[in-house]
Amino acid sequence: MTQTVLVTGGAGFIGAYVTRRLLKEGMRVVVYDMQPRGNVLDLLMPDRESTRNAPILESGEITDGFRLLSLCRQHNVEAIVHLASPLTMDVVSNPATGIRDICLGTHTVFATAREARLKRVVWASSVAIFGTAADYPPGPLAEDAFHRPPNLYGAAKSLCETMARQMAETDGLDTIGLRLSVVYGAGRRRGYMTYPSALMRDAATTDAVVVRFGDQKLHWQYVEEVAGMALVALTAPQLGRGHVYNAFGDCRSWRDAAAILRSLKPELNIAIRDEIDEALAGTVEDYAAERFVRDFASTRQWPLEAGIKDTLDTYRTMAARTPAQL
Ligand SMILES: NC(=O)c1ccc[n+]([C@@H]2O[C@H](COP(=O)([O-])OP(=O)(O)OC[C@H]3O[C@@H](n4cnc5c(N)ncnc54)[C@H](O)[C@@H]3O)[C@@H](O)[C@H]2O)c1
Repeated sequence: MTQTVLVTGGAGFIGAYVTRRLLKEGMRVVVYDMQPRGNVLDLLMPDRESTRNAPILESGEITDGFRLLSLCRQHNVEAIVHLASPLTMDVVSNPATGIRDICLGTHTVFATAREARLKRVVWASSVAIFGTAADYPPGPLAEDAFHRPPNLYGAAKSLCETMARQMAETDGLDTIGLRLSVVYGAGRRRGYMTYPSALMRDAATTDAVVVRFGDQKLHWQYVEEVAGMALVALTAPQLGRGHVYNAFGDCRSWRDAAAILRSLKPELNIAIRDEIDEALAGTVEDYAAERFVRDFASTRQWPLEAGIKDTLDTYRTMAARTPAQL
């Protein structure tokens, strides 16, 4: 049966892929975004208006509860995927607005879902709620490990997790949170962690790239995998109200990424440096994952090799259509 889903931030990077995936599944999608046009959705789905099942685009602010509620009623929305949010650097450059849009924005979405009696809200938290590996005992980091956010962005997401838990208890609100790590893929333009995607864009469209951080590791998380997670989180019968998953990626080094690029494009000139990205120094490498792996097994199909290959292919397609916008 067709389900109507409102995707906040649905024209942004992850939102565009989520929107496309839900449409492919036959769902109706209402995109709610302060910039619904001239955004990643235009790059990913340039011909969407000519398709039978085009997303409905609505422009607005995430803290505007009246508008969200009236859109839910107008379009018979049954569930929300909430992705509209400032990113780390937005909160650094404008803390008051950043905290407001993350915390009040998420509260507005949760309260709208409660008032409109929606089935579920799927929303994006971040591994930035955690500190560095040195803050925790050795071994995999548990889902309920204490939060030690290194910055206001992580602290704001941490508060949202508390909201989700509390509204599950007091209102029975059904929310599923995904603590994402470093999401990459074609079209990513915003945020501090844009450079893994930019490396792949340059590998796809030029003859030479520089890989700066040699042996340093990060959790590479392909955006199609995240889109698959959003679908599972929306449609699975019962996952646990208010639960937030450690939805980590494939923990690999930049050198591994360089080797994959070389295997996919042997003629590419790759210079590897051994700089350290201080923002990711000491990052947690090992997350406790039994519950995530059990509930999201079907989405775990994107090791770094597959994700990089798909990203290069998608960038080439985008470059052929709209080179100036990459
Ligand atoms: N990209 C990552 O690596 C990553 C990692 C962890 C968590 N997340 C979370 O995933 C979600 C999506 O991230 P993304 O990478 O797609 O970001 P993005 O910036 O590409 O997309 C966010 C979208 O939200 C919209 N938006 C921002 N503020 C808004 C507001 N006040 N009102 C209405 N719309 C607004 C923007 O126009 C944009 O289209 C966010 O919640 C982010 O915190 C992302």
